[in-house]
Amino acid sequence: MIVISHVVALSNNNVIGKDNDLPWNLKTDLKHFKDYTSNKIIVMGRKTFESIGRPLPNRINYVVSNTIGEIAGAKVFNSTESAIEEAKHECSRSGQNEIVIIGGGFLFRDTLNKANKLVLSKVKCDIDGDVFYPDVDLNDWEKVSSNKFYQDAENDYDFTVEVYERI
Ligand SMILES: NC(=O)c1ccc[n+]([C@@H]2O[C@H](COP(=O)([O-])OP(=O)(O)OC[C@H]3O[C@@H](n4cnc5c(N)ncnc54)[C@H](OP(=O)(O)O)[C@@H]3O)[C@@H](O)[C@H]2O)c1
Repeated sequence: MIVISHVVALSNNNVIGKDNDLPWNLKTDLKHFKDYTSNKIIVMGRKTFESIGRPLPNRINYVVSNTIGEIAGAKVFNSTESAIEEAKHECSRSGQNEIVIIGGGFLFRDTLNKANKLVLSKVKCDIDGDVFYPDVDLNDWEKVSSNKFYQDAENDYDFTVEVYERI
């Protein structure tokens, strides 16, 4: 079975972004993101791509956009469905079994019904923002792991990385 996962950091009030950027500095979470996504296919919306500013190394980068035709170092798709279909073919060709949706709000909403794994960094804050992760009924999901990290000089807030699989 191909795993379609969401990897996302969200606040208590579901904020994931502000002014096309992340609303916090969480160095340890960025390391977790890099470790989790490395050597996998990542799918993102055009705004998330622009926010990151470059294709992420050691990953196959897919970007969904109707306004950008080509990006050096990434494949561009005009719909989420076509990106996921091609990612499934790429999985078969390369022997991989996971497609990671990395945001933002549009892409998470578009793919929630297809996702069978959630890797949620739950950031312990209520914060202002303009992009939100959708409400998920976690009764449909089983928590398979949970790891807590603490605020320090490089991390603005405590956060917990919780992994869920669809029941
Ligand atoms: N906290 C986190 O874990 C996390 C992760 C990722 C991003 N973010 C944050 O989220 C924000 C960006 O999210 P966003 O919701 O504004 O944008 P987004 O989902 O990154 O990108 C939206 C764009 O993607 C394209 N798109 C999305 N769905 C599409 C579809 N079904 N068909 C065709 N094109 C589609 C469109 O591009 P065109 O307009 O070019 O057609 C759309 O404008 C930023 O603040 C970023 O920092 C946070």
